[in-house]
This record gives sequence, structure tokens and C-alpha cells, in this order.
Amino acid sequence: MTNPTYLTIAPRRLDAPLPEPLPRYWHSGSAFKSHFFNAMSVLFPKGERFFIDSVRHFRKSADGTELAEQIRGFIGQEAHHSNEHIQYNERLKAQGYDIDSLENALGKRLRFVQKHFSAKRQLAATVGVEHLTAIMADALLKNPQWMAGADPALRRLWHWHALEETEHKAVAFDLYRLIGGGETRRRVLMAEITLFFIYDVTKNLLHMLKRDGLLWNWATWKEGWQFLWGRDGVLKPLIRPYLDYYRRGFHPWDHDNRELMHQYQAKFASAPGALPATA
Ligand SMILES: [Fe+2]
Ligand SMILES: [Fe+2]
Repeated sequence: MTNPTYLTIAPRRLDAPLPEPLPRYWHSGSAFKSHFFNAMSVLFPKGERFFIDSVRHFRKSADGTELAEQIRGFIGQEAHHSNEHIQYNERLKAQGYDIDSLENALGKRLRFVQKHFSAKRQLAATVGVEHLTAIMADALLKNPQWMAGADPALRRLWHWHALEETEHKAVAFDLYRLIGGGETRRRVLMAEITLFFIYDVTKNLLHMLKRDGLLWNWATWKEGWQFLWGRDGVLKPLIRPYLDYYRRGFHPWDHDNRELMHQYQAKFASAPGALPATA
């Protein structure tokens, strides 16, 4: 399958401000759940800047095609996400976490990649991370119970981000194909970025738990294990769609979640420019 032809990709404004200060354990009073999402938030401003740069590099190749318009939407959406996560991360800094050093470590690696990797390899890395975000977004939207008990503004932010990740999930992919990116490189890069993604999320999560004095807390880890791998664990449903990426000829819209996407689009469209409290 290729991109649904009627798919228009445009950023929505997330007008609802985040709480100030952020409740420390904004996700149902749970340190593990809150920091699991926080750990990913720390990656977005620098990561999304990298995605934009890697797509922008080849953008001219799509001139005159429908993809050109989708690239514009992709860049707009990722730039908005970055801005929201900068606000989010400022609040984490105010809670005493050393977000600057976590972000700087990532920034340093991404600068190395931009200096030493070919532009095509950088785009293949972006395509891989976009698949990771797309399958996490799909699972998050499909399982609203995962956000039960979360602060409404934070729940809204994560659902908003998940919706837009779904809308633009194939943009970098289609550009990669358009410029003749190969299947082997695409799959090898996925294996590489998966390791770095797991490393980064784990590192950020451990930093926050350590600052809270919970690194060796049995109850925290027990709850964390349940949350990740328990009966309704958030990682379990990701395994199959993750592995699909390694199939020759795979396309992100082979995971056809248009119906779910339309549901959330309708939810967010009911208040243009702002998201309803129930989103
Ligand atoms: Fe994003
Ligand atoms: Fe994205």
C-alpha cells in the first residue's frame, strides 16, 4: 500500500498550555509511567530537528509531486512537536532533572551523524525512527486505557503527537523510496537506531528515577514491569508491527489504521486550533 491519496498533512496548534509546574508524577501518581513518557519527551526537540534536516536535504527531489505538499506538512508538524516538547522539558528541568546534559549527549551524537554519515543514510535513520514513533502512536491511540489517570493536558499532548505521527508516518519513507533508497540500508539502519533508541530512553528514565531516589525501589520496578510487559503491557503489541518493517517491500500504510486516525482527527477537529479536554 502507498500513502492514502486524500491524506492531507497539516499541523494543528496545541493551544492548551501544559500545567505549571508539572505534577511530578503526572501519570496516575506513578513515577515509572510518568518518567517513561518523560524520557521520550527529552529526545524529541533534538531528534525532530534531525528528522526535518534529513528530509529537507532531499526535498527538491519531490518538487511537482503530491509528496512535496506532504513534506511541507511533515516539517510543520515536527516543528510544532519540537516546540511543545521544549515547553514540556523546561518543566522537567524545573523539577530538578538534568535535562540539559541528557539533551547535549544526544545532540553530540546527532552532530557526529550529520558530519560523518551520508545524507541517504541519515534519511534511512529518520525513516526507521518514524516507524518506531508510528507503531507507538498507533498503540497509544488504540489503547486509551494506557493514559487512564494521566493529567488531562499531558494526555492531550501525547494523543495529539500520536495522531500527527500517524498522519505523516510514510512521508520520510516515500521520500526515501523516491530518491532510490535501498531495502538493505533501510533495514540495517532500523537495527542500529533501535539500539540507540532503547539506550536513550533507558538512560533518561534511569536518570529521573535516580534523582527521585527510586532507582532501587522494588515497588517502582514491579509496577514498571507490569506497565511494559504485563497483561496489558505497552511494549507487547509493538513487537509484530516492529518486525514487519524488516519485510522486503514493506510500506508504513500496510498497517492500515485510517479508521483510528479519522476517529482522532474528528475529536481534534471539534475545536479548531485547540484540543478538547477529553482528547
Ligand atoms: Fe513528532
Ligand atoms: Fe514524526
